[in-house]
Amino acid sequence: MTAGLEIAGLRVAYDSIRGPVVAVDGVDFTVGHERVALVGESGSGKSTVGRAILRLLPPSAHIAADRMTFDGIDLLGCDERRMRRVRGGRIGMILQDPRHALNPVMTVGRQIVESYRAHGGIGGTEARRRALDMLAAVHIRDPERVFAAYPHQLSGGMGQRAMIAMVLAAGPDLLIADEPTSALDVTVRHSVLAILDELVIAHGMGLLIITHDLNLVATFCDRALVMRAGRIVEALPASGLAEAHHPYTRALFAAAPTL
Ligand SMILES: Nc1ncnc2c1ncn2[C@@H]1O[C@H](COP(=O)(O)OP(=O)(O)OP(=O)(O)O)[C@@H](O)[C@H]1O
Ligand SMILES: [Mg+2]
Repeated sequence: MTAGLEIAGLRVAYDSIRGPVVAVDGVDFTVGHERVALVGESGSGKSTVGRAILRLLPPSAHIAADRMTFDGIDLLGCDERRMRRVRGGRIGMILQDPRHALNPVMTVGRQIVESYRAHGGIGGTEARRRALDMLAAVHIRDPERVFAAYPHQLSGGMGQRAMIAMVLAAGPDLLIADEPTSALDVTVRHSVLAILDELVIAHGMGLLIITHDLNLVATFCDRALVMRAGRIVEALPASGLAEAHHPYTRALFAAAPTL
């Protein structure tokens, strides 16, 4: 048994009126205590891979794998009760659309407090203090007001940051982040990346980041996995993206805007 995420032979097909559509077609990779980027053109299957890991796909999706484990936990075979515990604590996910992640009938503050309290050992006052600190850390200017607000009272960018705060408050061992910074402006993006970096380096978290931003990958990540049409066509050190061999990776990198 190895630590971290291990995936072998992952396949996902969606039912459609014209029969099954294969979105992920035999994918193998691991994520340890490191920053791994999943890149590739739109529709190549990146979000499907991310969601499959936590079994957060719609009922029309069929998942199969030779192996899909996290610290030895069988993510495909375990029952839904166990999976809920994995989702609530061990593996966190920042979704492409934050509106689905926050509970609409609970204040933002209470959701973050519950995340802190879920892993035990801290009282309500301490959890509240940490929640306010976390909101400030993701650049929410008026943490007290946002703490008391309901998700629909926040702007899109603020909702994104509130969700990031909630997911990080649970102290995950692995974070799957699907375009976590695309809705954020540059300074907020830097702060969010700095928090993620600190969690990887100081707390040994693993990070699987799905992004279109190849500059971010080259400067922030350790390794990159390049997806095309449901397959990983190249796996390489993130710093080597510019010198990639695979013509597809080269084309992807050539098309990226430089800062
Ligand atoms: N719920 C669904 N039902 C049917 N097909 C789907 C569903 N979700 C995704 N697909 C299909 O699966 C393939 C992979 O989609 P996915 O969302 O994983 O791509 P992606 O790489 O995340 O793209 P993007 O960069 O645009 O977010 C696409 O062909 C898409 O049309
Ligand atoms: Mg996607």
